[in-house]
Amino acid sequence: MSAALQKQQALGQSLILGIESSCDETAAAVVAEGRHQLSSIIASQIATHQPFGGVVPELASREHLRNIVPVVRAALAEAGISLKDLDAIAVTEGPGLAGALLVGITYARTLAFALNKPLIAVNHLEGHIHAVLLQQTGSGNEPLPLPALALVVSGGHTHLYLARQREKTWHYRNVGRTVDDAAGEAFDKVAKLLGLPYPGGPWMDALAKHGNPTAVPFAFAQIKPKAHRGQGPEGWQQALAADTLFSFSGIKTAVLRYVETHGLKPSIERRRATRPHTPADALSLCDQETLDLIASFQHAVVENLKRRTFASAEYYGAASLLISGGVAANSELRKAFTAEAKERGIPVAFPSLALATDNAAMIAAAAWPKFLAHEFAPTDLSAQPTLKLGAAV
Ligand code: KG4
Ligand code: ZN
Repeated sequence: MSAALQKQQALGQSLILGIESSCDETAAAVVAEGRHQLSSIIASQIATHQPFGGVVPELASREHLRNIVPVVRAALAEAGISLKDLDAIAVTEGPGLAGALLVGITYARTLAFALNKPLIAVNHLEGHIHAVLLQQTGSGNEPLPLPALALVVSGGHTHLYLARQREKTWHYRNVGRTVDDAAGEAFDKVAKLLGLPYPGGPWMDALAKHGNPTAVPFAFAQIKPKAHRGQGPEGWQQALAADTLFSFSGIKTAVLRYVETHGLKPSIERRRATRPHTPADALSLCDQETLDLIASFQHAVVENLKRRTFASAEYYGAASLLISGGVAANSELRKAFTAEAKERGIPVAFPSLALATDNAAMIAAAAWPKFLAHEFAPTDLSAQPTLKLGAAV
């Protein structure tokens, strides 16, 4: 069926407008019945935060305020619909930056009230999981066998969830997490340390292709019980047995030590002063030792994510794997997970690159089962900056 015909058919279905503003992207999208993406607009704030080397919460809120109206308008225009054609408004309620979340929530609440349409609250992490499910159904692939083990790996999270569907509703169990930094955070911090722009993940990915991934042997220390705060002894035992706890702050310190002991500071200063605009610019400012360090760091992080994810899939008897979040855009991670999954005979699915990082199509897709179940949010919905997904083990 042609794309135009598919769109025509989708316009006759129930349409959800998704709104996402949890961090540094203002996004809106229209998705038909959780499966056909009619539009997806993302206003990135990277240029605003780049001079500061990370997200500045006050600036994020200001940019969301500036962007929310034009972004929603553009999402409706791209879908070829108007507000009255919508069946529901979905919005990220958390986790994320309080002020940033509030902008999306306030706008969504106002739209829902003015249009007299249901409001649906979506957990950002569930959104990342549904990015993969949207990709699967949207591209006509078979649904993934369940339970699926979902690795959500981004700038703020490195979590493992066991995802099941009962009736039409999705249920999650949080079976793994990082005890300190998220993997994307480690990519960003190491990139900053090496004089590369924010966010560092894509720059590291591009530069790692030019280095030797086994040049610097990084080791991941055994995670000690005291590092695992806020967890009962039972959950701790199980997480240890299943090997589902991650830690990425040690490798960041190891990179810092390597830089100091191998005289890499002058080249870091050169990159900081030059502020490369493209990975090709950055490449011309990197010596081989730095490229080897970048490749080795990425390789160590990917191998660690891979080993723990597959071990935990086996422990929990997962029938498929689903990898999502900004770091799921990493080319080495995709290759390594795809090869390992093939060897083990377990299906693995990723979102497209556009659906891997923050977007609103995943929010509208995650809202569909809630729409069917009439799980609507109260009109005074508020931001939940520390919202969790599923019960933890
Ligand atoms: O999902 P996301 O857009 O926002 C959060 O919810 O955090 O993820 C952003 C994170 C950043 O840390 C960024 O550096 C990382 O994803 N990232 C990557 C790549 N693309 C984005 N990390 C490694 N390789 C990439 N290609
Ligand atoms: Zn995210």
